[in-house]
Amino acid sequence: MSEDDIRVGVFVCNCGSNIGGIVNVPEVVEYTKGLKNVVFADESKWSCSVDALAQLQNSIKEHNINRVVIAACTPRTHEPLFKRTVKAVGLNPYLLEFVSIREQSSWVHMNNPQVAAEKAKDLIKMGVAKAAFLEEGEEIKLPVKTDCLVIGGGVAGMTAAQNLAIQGFNVTVVEREAKLGGLLNRVGEISSDDREIPSQEIIKAKMEQLAKYPNIKVYTNTTIKDVSGYIGNYKVTVQSNGTEETFDASTVIVATGMQEVEPVGQFCYGENPRVVTQLQLEDLLKQNTLDNIEHIVMINCVNSMNETRGCCNIGCHVSIKNALALRERFAHAKIYILFRTLCLVKEERRIVERAKDAGIKFIRFPDDRYPEVQSENNHLLVKVYDTLLGREFRMPADLLVLTTAFEGDKSVDEVKGQLKVSSNAEGFFQEAHIKLGPLDFPADGLFLCGGARSPKNVKDTTEEALGAAMRASIPMKRGYIEADGIVADINLAECSGCGICVDNCPYGAIKWAAEKEPVVIKALCKGCGLCAADCPKNTISIVHFSDRQLLAMVEAALEENPSQKIIGFICHWCCHGAVDMAGVGRMQYPPNVRLIRVMCSARVSAKHVLRAFELGAAGVFVGGCEFPTCHYIVGNYKAEKRMDRVKKNMPKKGFDPEKLWVGWCSAADGPKFANIMRDMAKKLNLG
Ligand code: FES
Repeated sequence: MSEDDIRVGVFVCNCGSNIGGIVNVPEVVEYTKGLKNVVFADESKWSCSVDALAQLQNSIKEHNINRVVIAACTPRTHEPLFKRTVKAVGLNPYLLEFVSIREQSSWVHMNNPQVAAEKAKDLIKMGVAKAAFLEEGEEIKLPVKTDCLVIGGGVAGMTAAQNLAIQGFNVTVVEREAKLGGLLNRVGEISSDDREIPSQEIIKAKMEQLAKYPNIKVYTNTTIKDVSGYIGNYKVTVQSNGTEETFDASTVIVATGMQEVEPVGQFCYGENPRVVTQLQLEDLLKQNTLDNIEHIVMINCVNSMNETRGCCNIGCHVSIKNALALRERFAHAKIYILFRTLCLVKEERRIVERAKDAGIKFIRFPDDRYPEVQSENNHLLVKVYDTLLGREFRMPADLLVLTTAFEGDKSVDEVKGQLKVSSNAEGFFQEAHIKLGPLDFPADGLFLCGGARSPKNVKDTTEEALGAAMRASIPMKRGYIEADGIVADINLAECSGCGICVDNCPYGAIKWAAEKEPVVIKALCKGCGLCAADCPKNTISIVHFSDRQLLAMVEAALEENPSQKIIGFICHWCCHGAVDMAGVGRMQYPPNVRLIRVMCSARVSAKHVLRAFELGAAGVFVGGCEFPTCHYIVGNYKAEKRMDRVKKNMPKKGFDPEKLWVGWCSAADGPKFANIMRDMAKKLNLG
């Protein structure tokens, strides 16, 4: 297509007053009409409303538009809707570019409408510049059969397996322990509103259910040795008693569960045998080996609710349940639960009354003043500051129980390597998106549930397992999947056959078709862009994120006033999430940054950064997910190393390496992103 044939339509959303209440949208639309290749520009009150979408389709037809730019909210939530809308009128959805002028402009510069409007104009100009170079892409259609692998035979795995079997799918459950039931095997009873249910009853009932379905095959004492392939076409090798077996699976559900974080070296744990965790207490209760206990103390929130971990979700309830179990055995013992805050859902709250009626005492301690424990001659003394009474108490303890945090099961690292997925800083598997894909991995066909994802009780685990089973059943029922067409493409005419891409692809998606002839297996490629950024010959392109498109955005952003602008490359996942959260929180930060979305920080190459500096940018920011949570396994590690190399080379090119920043944010960390922007603007002396 020649440049003259490019016809860009720009659709600017007021988003009610979210954008229009700050930014002068008519002024922005008028500006947009003057941009190169733009043949049509218009505004609407709510671009995502049914009427506006119909109007968008009419405009595409009426003005013969062949590239669409939507300037609205965040692409992370709304891009799929607009892609479907343009596709319905025959426009290839890869010819659409999404510009976020709400989260990146009106919300974060709401105190300065004119600045917000100028930034919105720049962002749209960048989107239009990219749109001119957009190329058609296509979803990859893959057949999906009806067999699912469930890794883990605890409550989550058994529930998911049963649900899939009911729907008629074939399920293989692989459990590495000798019996099914997972963590529940270590728990004596689980408590509901006002009664306790023996855990073994739950496990037995679930196993009886599984036995009813001939389409469920269960392996125990078995480990996964290898998983290769992709949705619809996984080859799974399992190992049991030294023998290996291989079978096919179309989808995989990870239900590997969780384990306690051992509080080694804390509160005399490991030093005094009377200090145990809640799970160890469960063992002692089952073995019935506790004797001569008069003083029992429990400390909650051990290693939870701190900078690294959030609430463990279940600790408060577990501590009260176990305190009641101890009360049954030791009618006259003094039992104290030391807590920071009691996190209980509505249906769990009655247990507190039961505990109080049973004489169990609750003492609240301050967040920043945990109890202290001394161990002398095998005697334990606990000091706690009571927030309510405003004084310190000392109490002896014959048994000290620590309610510890949870982390993903010990098999997480192994399974994550086999499935090529990521885990988060708390050692749980990393879902695709906490709200939009909580039970999906970023790769198609892989799902997760239960303790493998985050700590949870039996009820929540069961619900999540049903959810994961439903997610897995969708492509199996449909019989095929359309995978995203954001993939790598190698221009073999220019390729030197160095093999860096083959060696570096985290998914093994680039193989040798012949000597010095790498080929991309599109079904395996996730489009992270690591190969393209490292290719010394620039022969690899990523659909929708080509060098030409990204450089066009850099150039458009820096056309005016470059010395006041920061070019920011942010990954679509966590860093974009943080940017969006900064917007949602209306965090006001300096308006200098112009953000360019890439799928992973690994996509950003030296040439993107250097081009920005050549054009006079005040600074460049490369942002991705926190370690180790990159959605493409190792992308952020690779990006960090690459940017270190770029910094080293910058002085040779006459650029100050202090002007290149990298930053890693969790998807919820809007404040961190806003602070980075404030720090950068200050350090770079931007007005
Ligand atoms: Fe965020 Fe890789 S996806 S850095």
